[in-house]
Amino acid sequence: MNHAQLAAAAVAAKDRAYAPYSGFHVGAALLSEGETLYIGCNIESAAYPATVCAERTALLKAVSEGERKFRAIAVAGSKPGADGDYCYPCGVCRQLLHEFAGEDFEVIVARTATDFRVHKWAEILPFGFGPKDLEG
Ligand code: THU
Repeated sequence: MNHAQLAAAAVAAKDRAYAPYSGFHVGAALLSEGETLYIGCNIESAAYPATVCAERTALLKAVSEGERKFRAIAVAGSKPGADGDYCYPCGVCRQLLHEFAGEDFEVIVARTATDFRVHKWAEILPFGFGPKDLEG
């Protein structure tokens, strides 16, 4: 699956968002090493801090299905009906993704299915604290 296909999947996943409080719809498409695609959307709560971002929805689905290695995640976020700007993962999502992100892991931020940027993981979370820091 290429970058454009992942971007398109993230844009489509915005339609699944449950975001009655912010009105900001986010979709994520996470590709495993074995090329299985996991889709996520943001899921908000009337108790606001219980909200789960689209990226973590996708990651939690995948990890709970037994996945541990991933190639890339695409993210798209906007108010409904608008293309919006590039939507980058929040700090909490960056930290949880870091747990599973290898050196080749890529982040695609998509405004539309054809307008997207591709980043290496080290650009998204430089100097991150992760599993390697607990070794030895
Ligand atoms: N949100 C995500 O799902 N992913 C991001 O990368 C940024 C923020 C969600 C959380 C909340 O439901 C809404 O967007 C506004 O913060």
